[in-house]
Amino acid sequence: MQRPTRFPVQSAMTTMSSEPEHAGHAHTEAVAELSDVKKIYYKPDGSVMVEALKGIDLKISRGEMISVMGASGSGKSTLMNILGCLDRPTAGEFSLGGRQVAGMDDEELSLFRGRTIGFVFQAFNLIPQLTIEENVSVPLFYQGVPRPDRLRRSKAALEQVGLGDRIGHRPRELSGGQQQRAAIARALVGEPVVLMADEPTGNLDSTTSDSILDLINGLHRDGMTIIMVTHDDEVADRCQRVVRLRDGLIESDQAVTRRA
Ligand SMILES: Nc1ncnc2c1ncn2[C@@H]1O[C@H](COP(=O)(O)OP(=O)(O)O)[C@@H](O)[C@H]1O
Ligand SMILES: [Mg+2]
Repeated sequence: MQRPTRFPVQSAMTTMSSEPEHAGHAHTEAVAELSDVKKIYYKPDGSVMVEALKGIDLKISRGEMISVMGASGSGKSTLMNILGCLDRPTAGEFSLGGRQVAGMDDEELSLFRGRTIGFVFQAFNLIPQLTIEENVSVPLFYQGVPRPDRLRRSKAALEQVGLGDRIGHRPRELSGGQQQRAAIARALVGEPVVLMADEPTGNLDSTTSDSILDLINGLHRDGMTIIMVTHDDEVADRCQRVVRLRDGLIESDQAVTRRA
């Protein structure tokens, strides 16, 4: 297989758009849009400790699969926390699923987050005491879904990730790859608008990583919008678009293409 090549989104797309849009997705619906987003961490005395994001402009369209890369400390987690509504920008505008996040109070934001985003973590973060069926149904509990519906949807999500025959198992009875599949089922069960993954294959061997990435690529083909943080070029090559951060700014924003 040939190595994919990358080209800058902006130069490739400018001819297709009359609007001066940064990432050139002016014709498709934006799922997430950040405009001059800054994030400053303050010291207890109120002085600036770190300017983690220094002005991010980013538009992510429905159905995109995008990876966020960059050296340690470049602002990836800070950006993911904002995109995932776990934290708010210090300045700038951020909308998700067509809604301005700044206008929501904390309770509204956490409900909105639950309905809009599915999270997948490097360390799976399953609850060891619960079966995987119960683990997968947890987000539905917080959404007030009645128990019979929770279990039915949980089972369907586990079948979707190829774990239909493991529903009564506890996380420790499963391999790492199977645990990550269960975590992906948990992220999908609430039918989110965006799937966000922070180093989802970071704890897996390369064969298992490949099968998890196949699963994620399949979700993307079925229309899911996916945002993934990774250090790994091979993971990034499986995305359509790579955003690189450096020192709190976007250093590059490129489409990934494959030569025929
Ligand atoms: N809660 C925090 N308080 C203070 N500084 C932080 C906090 N979180 C991150 N930082 C700083 O912000 C910068 C960006 O961090 P982060 O977003 O975690 O980068 P990355 O995920 O790319 O490694 C770093 O300098 C980091 O030390
Ligand atoms: Mg990080």
